Amino acid sequence: MSITSNHHQSVMLDESIEGLNIKNGGIYIDATFGRGGHTQAILDKLDASGSVIAFDQDIHAVEFAQENFNDDRLLVIHSAFTHMGKILNEHNLSGKIDGILMDLGVSSPQLDNADRGFSFNAQGPLDMRMDQTSGISAAQWLAQADEAEIADVIYKFGEEKRSRHIASAIKRYQQEQAITTTLQLANIIAGVVRSHKNKHPATRSFQAIRIFINQELGQLTEALNQTIDLLAPEGRLSVISFHSIEDRIVKQFIHNNSKQKQLPKGLPVMDSGIQQTLFKKMGKQFASKDEVRVNKRSRSALLRIAQRTTLVLEKC
Ligand SMILES: C[S@@+](CC[C@H](N)C(=O)[O-])C[C@H]1O[C@@H](n2cnc3c(N)ncnc32)[C@H](O)[C@@H]1O
Repeated sequence: MSITSNHHQSVMLDESIEGLNIKNGGIYIDATFGRGGHTQAILDKLDASGSVIAFDQDIHAVEFAQENFNDDRLLVIHSAFTHMGKILNEHNLSGKIDGILMDLGVSSPQLDNADRGFSFNAQGPLDMRMDQTSGISAAQWLAQADEAEIADVIYKFGEEKRSRHIASAIKRYQQEQAITTTLQLANIIAGVVRSHKNKHPATRSFQAIRIFINQELGQLTEALNQTIDLLAPEGRLSVISFHSIEDRIVKQFIHNNSKQKQLPKGLPVMDSGIQQTLFKKMGKQFASKDEVRVNKRSRSALLRIAQRTTLVLEKC
């Protein structure tokens, strides 16, 4: 497969890096390497003793890193970020990470390369997997899923009101021929959905199927939970999300862990009424108007920052 473009304009670069509050000699995780814009910005703030461990489940991102990043302070791992807890634990790094950055969703090279099947604007195989070494493609899933399942996915992950009509149109079409390409699917959807506010009618459905195929929401929840044990006291979490469903998960995670919680039974300090908080909210931010003007992708970006607390015990 040929990659046509490697260009990715990093979103909310300054704000998300500032949110990490980088220490010169710290250890940082970039959970979503992409083309390494955020990783490079972190490296630029570190001295020789600092390091970055980056993850990406897309082999093309990892190959890009191998070809373009020559820095002893950087380790790039081809893996879903759901494995970061286990991998870093094996390296004895649990509780020692000074900051974790997550810049969610897909990269521009993934969207712009028609071969990846993410785009409703360009003809390509209907794949949509970020990790093409595992799982099933969108085309395979559409062939095996029943109408109700397709409708549910499009409704749940795309908030598309016409989900039932779309699923029914897909199944009708499949009685005649298989859906194997992006434009076949985009045209079927355009036949039953009107475009709204200059958005392509297939925008929501493609987003939904992509989220489902890559299990994006489950993976996000799992990875966020792992940050609790990975971060050092006062370590920072900086997460950029691109749609409300994703943001809701990040928001709730931070919110739930910023509330005081009962300590598990059995701790020596256990005493009914002793509680702890795991994170402190450090704020949320949208991309600036200037950035949105030059990078359309940033218009839906929302950055949330939280800080791992030191174990503060309070009697209440
Ligand atoms: C928005 S891009 C990141 C761009 C990057 N911050 C930059 O400046 O170049 C998101 C990247 O995260 C990767 N990704 C998404 N979900 C992932 C997951 N669950 N595990 C690992 N990588 C993931 C995608 O493959 C993609 O390369």
